[in-house]
Amino acid sequence: MMSHGLESVVGALVADGKGILAADETVPTLTRRFDALGIQSTEQSRRAYREMLVTSPGAAEFISGVIMFDETIRQESSRGTPLAQVEAGLGILPGIKVDTGAKRLAGCPGETITEGLDGLRDRLTEYRAMGARFAKWRAVIHVTEVLPSSACVRANAHALARYAALCQEQEFVPIVEPEVLMDGSHTIERCEDVTGVVLHEVFDALFEQGVALEEMLLKPNMVLPGKDCTRQASVEEVATATLRCLRRHVPAAVPGIVFLSGGQNARLATAHLNAINRLPGPKPWKVSFSYGRALQDPALEAWHGRDENLADGQRALYWRASSNGAASIGKYTDEMEAASPSADDPHHHDWRDD
Ligand code: 13P
Repeated sequence: MMSHGLESVVGALVADGKGILAADETVPTLTRRFDALGIQSTEQSRRAYREMLVTSPGAAEFISGVIMFDETIRQESSRGTPLAQVEAGLGILPGIKVDTGAKRLAGCPGETITEGLDGLRDRLTEYRAMGARFAKWRAVIHVTEVLPSSACVRANAHALARYAALCQEQEFVPIVEPEVLMDGSHTIERCEDVTGVVLHEVFDALFEQGVALEEMLLKPNMVLPGKDCTRQASVEEVATATLRCLRRHVPAAVPGIVFLSGGQNARLATAHLNAINRLPGPKPWKVSFSYGRALQDPALEAWHGRDENLADGQRALYWRASSNGAASIGKYTDEMEAASPSADDPHHHDWRDD
């Protein structure tokens, strides 16, 4: 495996007490989330929302990087500065989602393959010139009694590895995101089995494509029961199963694991991360967050598309970021949560980027 000089960027992304803000929803996905709150989705309202998030006072203490969507990286702040430059000025690394979505996988009913490899080298060159330093690609794995198929798992692992190799060649830190969905009624045990198989395939493919494990981040799901499973799991159970699965399948050379939130409510996503970091025993990687909904939902709700609520939206983001920053070093407490302005359960909406 070749080194690409990316260790300092990886190190900054998982610096102690910091994690990543995923704000890379596609236009249709963000529009659905705005619609649910009666907010009009226009290029301007999406820009204003993203600017509000990234400029939340103090958030950079806990947010090391922001993942943007193509539309956002081309947008400017209200003062006319490109948003990527605004982020860099605040000490936040600009990142970019480079997959083009999960599409139906031929021959595998009910399953998807994430696309976007064609032309990726050229797109990376362009994003690099705009200031992006890291990238994200999300593979989606559906769980039923019979899914996922090995054809789907292997095809997605292969695409993730090809993406990661191209990123490193172009001096981007790849975030490798294989998401086992929490949709469905499967048990936590089944989620653990499927997540293990998926991680095994992903690291096999990364090895085969020559990806430098020291210069990437893994963005996995936590091990959780399906949303409709009749037996939900305690915070301790989730933490134990998740850490066991990661220890079995993620090489120690990987510098950081940054979880997706996957539809968990904001408080639980924080509690789970904290519990994982507090478990005893070896954790050879940094364990932090790269949350979308669990960081944004309270802020979106507080903002509600209105200029006069901007400071409330920013406060809500700051609180969730600071809670997750604490959880990333196992120092989140109930008192911190009680002090949060968004202590009520936020709405949460499905990601479903496709
Ligand atoms: P969630 O935290 O909302 O799952 O989003 C993370 C993400 O980046 C999905 O690709």
